[in-house]
Amino acid sequence: MALVLFTNFLLATLSPTPALSYLNPGARKWRDATESSSHRTYIVLVEPPRSNVGEDFHRQWHESFLPRSRSRSHAGNSSETRLLGSYTEVFSGFAARLTEAEVDAVAKKPGFVRAFPDRTLQLATTHTPEFLGLNKGTGTGIWNNADYGKGVIIGVLDTGIHAAHPSFDDHGVPPPPARWKGSCNGTSGCNNKLIGAKWFVGGDAGDEVGHGTHTSSTAAGNFVAGASYKGVGTGTAAGIAPAAHIAMYKVCSDESCDTSAILAGMDEAIKDGVDVLSVSLAGGMSAGFDLDPIAIGAFTAVSKGITVVCAAGNKGPRMSSIANDAPWLLTVAAGSVDRSFDAGVYLGDGRRIDGEALTQLLAAKPKPSSGRYPLLFSKARPSCDYENNRSVVAGKILVCGAGAKIHSLIDAGAAGVLLSSAELNGYTTVLRDYNSSGVVQVTAADGKVLRDYASETKNSVVSITYNSTLLGVRPAPVVAWFSSRGPSNIAPGILKPDILAPGLNILAAWPPKTKSATGLFNIISGTSMSTPHVSGVVALVKSLHPDWSPAAIKSAILTTADAVNSTGGPILDEKHGKADACATGAGHVNPARAADPGLVYDITADEFAAYMCWVQSPDAMAASLMGSSLPCADLPNITEAQLNYPTIAVPLRPKPFTVNRTVTNVGPAESTYTVKVEAPATLSVHVSPQTLCFTKVGEKKVFSVSVTDHGVPEEELIAEGSLSWVSEKHVVRSPVVAVSPWA
Ligand SMILES: *[C@@H]1O[C@H](CO)[C@@H](O)[C@H](O)[C@H]1NC(C)=O
Ligand SMILES: *[C@@H]1O[C@H](CO)[C@@H](O)[C@H](O)[C@H]1NC(C)=O
Ligand SMILES: *[C@@H]1O[C@H](CO)[C@@H](O)[C@H](O)[C@H]1NC(C)=O
Ligand SMILES: *[C@@H]1O[C@H](CO)[C@@H](O)[C@H](O)[C@H]1NC(C)=O
Ligand SMILES: *[C@@H]1O[C@H](CO)[C@@H](O)[C@H](O)[C@H]1NC(C)=O
Ligand SMILES: *[C@@H]1O[C@H](CO)[C@@H](O)[C@H](O)[C@H]1NC(C)=O
Ligand SMILES: *[C@@H]1O[C@H](CO)[C@@H](O)[C@H](O)[C@H]1NC(C)=O
Ligand SMILES: *[C@@H]1O[C@H](CO)[C@@H](O)[C@H](O)[C@H]1NC(C)=O
Repeated sequence: MALVLFTNFLLATLSPTPALSYLNPGARKWRDATESSSHRTYIVLVEPPRSNVGEDFHRQWHESFLPRSRSRSHAGNSSETRLLGSYTEVFSGFAARLTEAEVDAVAKKPGFVRAFPDRTLQLATTHTPEFLGLNKGTGTGIWNNADYGKGVIIGVLDTGIHAAHPSFDDHGVPPPPARWKGSCNGTSGCNNKLIGAKWFVGGDAGDEVGHGTHTSSTAAGNFVAGASYKGVGTGTAAGIAPAAHIAMYKVCSDESCDTSAILAGMDEAIKDGVDVLSVSLAGGMSAGFDLDPIAIGAFTAVSKGITVVCAAGNKGPRMSSIANDAPWLLTVAAGSVDRSFDAGVYLGDGRRIDGEALTQLLAAKPKPSSGRYPLLFSKARPSCDYENNRSVVAGKILVCGAGAKIHSLIDAGAAGVLLSSAELNGYTTVLRDYNSSGVVQVTAADGKVLRDYASETKNSVVSITYNSTLLGVRPAPVVAWFSSRGPSNIAPGILKPDILAPGLNILAAWPPKTKSATGLFNIISGTSMSTPHVSGVVALVKSLHPDWSPAAIKSAILTTADAVNSTGGPILDEKHGKADACATGAGHVNPARAADPGLVYDITADEFAAYMCWVQSPDAMAASLMGSSLPCADLPNITEAQLNYPTIAVPLRPKPFTVNRTVTNVGPAESTYTVKVEAPATLSVHVSPQTLCFTKVGEKKVFSVSVTDHGVPEEELIAEGSLSWVSEKHVVRSPVVAVSPWA
C-alpha cells in the first residue's frame, strides 16, 4: 500500500505546477518547488474522523498523524506548529511541514490516504459584454431577465482585490442573501458588491499584482463610465454579471499560488456558501484527477452545488496541453474580440499594415501621425541587437523580432520599433504596453512584409497613424495561440476545453498603485481573462435558475454556444484555419441563449463520483478522496462514454462506438425535438431515436449516438460533426468529436 502511494506521490511531483493563467512577459518568476531545506510542505489526505464533532476534532485527528518532535534539530517544535492548516470541506486532510522520512512514517499510520508535496502554480472590459450580446438600457435581453446576476455570489481564488476600485462600488447591488456565511475579516471597503475578502497568503486581502482585481471585475464588476487605458478602449466598463456579489479568497502572492493555499481558499469558500468559484489558475497537465488537489477540492465544491470555472491554461497551441480537464470543471479557452487598438503602419510604397499599440499618439482630428522615418532592418540582427549604437538607430524606425530590448533602443534615439510576433503566435498579438507611441506590435506575417520591404527597397520609409480603438474587426472571435488545447490525456472521452470566451487584450479594473499601473484599468491576456467571463455567465444563468446543478448550468452554456461567428463563418484558430473542437470546445459562449437552453444534460454528484471510481484505480481510495460520497463499491459503473456530458468525444474507429445520453426538459412542458446531425461524409453519426417528445418539465429521455470512421484520412487526428436537438424554440447542439490516436 505504502509503495503504491509513494509512486503516486512521485507522479504528482512530476506534473507541472499551477499558475496564474495570464501572460506576463515582464515578470516571470518561477519558484522552484523543491526547496533547499529538507522540510517541505505536504498536503496530506486522510480518512475523515470517525465522529464528526467540529473542527477541533478534525484538528486533533490531523495532529495525530504528525511525528512527535524528538530529533534534536526540531527541539521545541511541537506537532502543532508543523500543522499549517486543516481542511474539512474540500476533503479530510491537512497541510504540514515534513521531511521525506516523516512522510513515510505518516503514510504508515492507519487512516492515511495520500500525500502531495505542495506545489507552486504560476499566475496562469469595456467592450466584451457588448461583444457577448449584453446591452444595458434596452429593457430586454439576459441582463434584464437575469437582473444582472442579482443574488448570486461569485468566489474568486486569486491575488486579492483592490476594494476601493469603482468597479466594486455597490450601487444597485442588494445586500447578500441570508444564507451567506462569509465575511470580510476586517478588510475595509467591503460593501454589498464585495461581500467577502479572506487571505491565505500575505497579511491582507489587498492586490499587489492586479490579476485578482482584473478577474473579479470581469466576472462581476459594476458599471464604470469613462473607463479607458491611456485613452484607448474607452467606454463603460462592466463585468458580465454586474449585480452579482464578489468574495475574494487571496491564495496567490506575486505570481505564485501554492496548492496548500488554494485548497484552504476553496475550503473556506465552500463553508461561506459561494455559488460560483472562478479559478484563473492552471498547472500543467495533471497525471490523474486523484493526483491533482485542485480537481479533488473542486469535486467537493461541485458536489455541494458550486459551479467551478477554471482556466484551460496558456500552453497552446500544442495538442493535449489542456489543464483543469476534470469533467466536473467548466474549462475555458481564450479567444479574441472584435476590437483592435489600431496603429496603422504606412510603407513608403503606399501599402498599409494594421499594427496595434497600447500607447498611442491621440488627438481629436485629423488622425495623428508619427511622420516618416527611414526603416531599418538587418538580417544579421533580427532582434535589433545594435548594442544601443546611437549612430545606427537614431531617427529610424526598426523592424525587430522577439527578444528586442525595446526600451534601450528608444533610449538610444530610435524613432520607433515595429515589433513582430513569433511565427507560432500566428495572427494573435498579445499586447504589451511599452510606454512609447513609437512601438507598434505586428503579426509575424506582417513582420515579414516589413522585413522584405526594408531589405528590397532602397531608402525604405514608414510612418505610423493612430486610430485609437477600432470595433467590428474581422474575423472574430479567433482562438488565441496560447489557449491550451485538448484532448485531455487523462480523459480523452471528455471534450476539453469546454467553451471559448474572450481572453485576448481584455480591459478590466486594476489597482492604481501596482508597478505596472497607469490608471484604474489595464489590458492583459490569458485564459485567466476568459475564465471570469464564463463565471459571470454562470452567475446570470444561476440567477434565473437557482435550483440548477453545476452540470445543468454547464450544459446550458455548452449546448447554446456559437459554433460560427456573427456572419456565419467558422471560428478560426490563430493561423486563421478552421479551429477544431479541441481548441474551442462547444464554441463561443452566448449568454443570452444560455439562459434558455430547452434541454440539459444533467450529471449528479454520485455520477461524477462513480466516474471518478472508474477513471482511477478501482480501489476504495478514490471514494475516500471524495469526502462524504459513497464508496466505489456502492456506486454504479460509469465509464467515460456513459457520463452524461453535454459534448461527445469518442475514439475514431472503423467499428461503431456508441454512447448513451439523457436529456432533461427545462423548456416548455409540451415540446418535440428532432435530431439534426452534421458530419463529414467520412464520419458516420447515427442517433436513435431521432425524435424526442416531452409532455412535462423535468421529464428525461435517453438516446444513443453511434460514431463510425468511414474513411477519415489517416493524417487527420480529429474528425468532428455535431448533433442538435431542434424544437420550435430551441436548438440544443453538441459537438461530436472522434479522436485518434486514443490516449
Ligand atoms: C521548527 O520548524 C520550522 C519549520 O520546519 C523551522 O523553520 C524552525 O527552525 C523549527 N524550530 C526549531 C526551534 O527547531
Ligand atoms: C483574518 O484576519 C486575521 C486578523 O487580521 C488574520 O490573522 C487571518 O489570517 C485572517 N483570516 C483570513 C482567512 O483571511
Ligand atoms: C556604431 O556604428 C557605426 C556605424 O556602423 C560604427 O562606425 C561605430 O563604430 C559603431 N560604434 C560602436 C560603439 O560600436
Ligand atoms: C511613460 O512615459 C511617460 C511620458 O513619456 C512618463 O511620464 C511615465 O513615467 C512613463 N511611465 C512608465 C511606467 O514608465
Ligand atoms: C486609420 O486611420 C487612417 C487615417 O485616417 C485611415 O485612412 C484608415 O482607414 C483607418 N484605418 C481603419 C482600419 O479604420
Ligand atoms: C467569420 O469567419 C469568416 C471565416 O471563417 C471570416 O471570413 C469572416 O470575416 C468572419 N466574420 C466575422 C464577423 O468575424
Ligand atoms: C464497468 O464497465 C466496464 C466497461 O463496460 C467494464 O469493463 C467493467 O468490468 C465494469 N465494472 C464493473 C465493476 O461492473
Ligand atoms: C445504452 O443504452 C442501451 C439501452 O438501455 C444499453 O443496452 C446499452 O448498454 C447502453 N450503452 C452504453 C454504452 O451505456
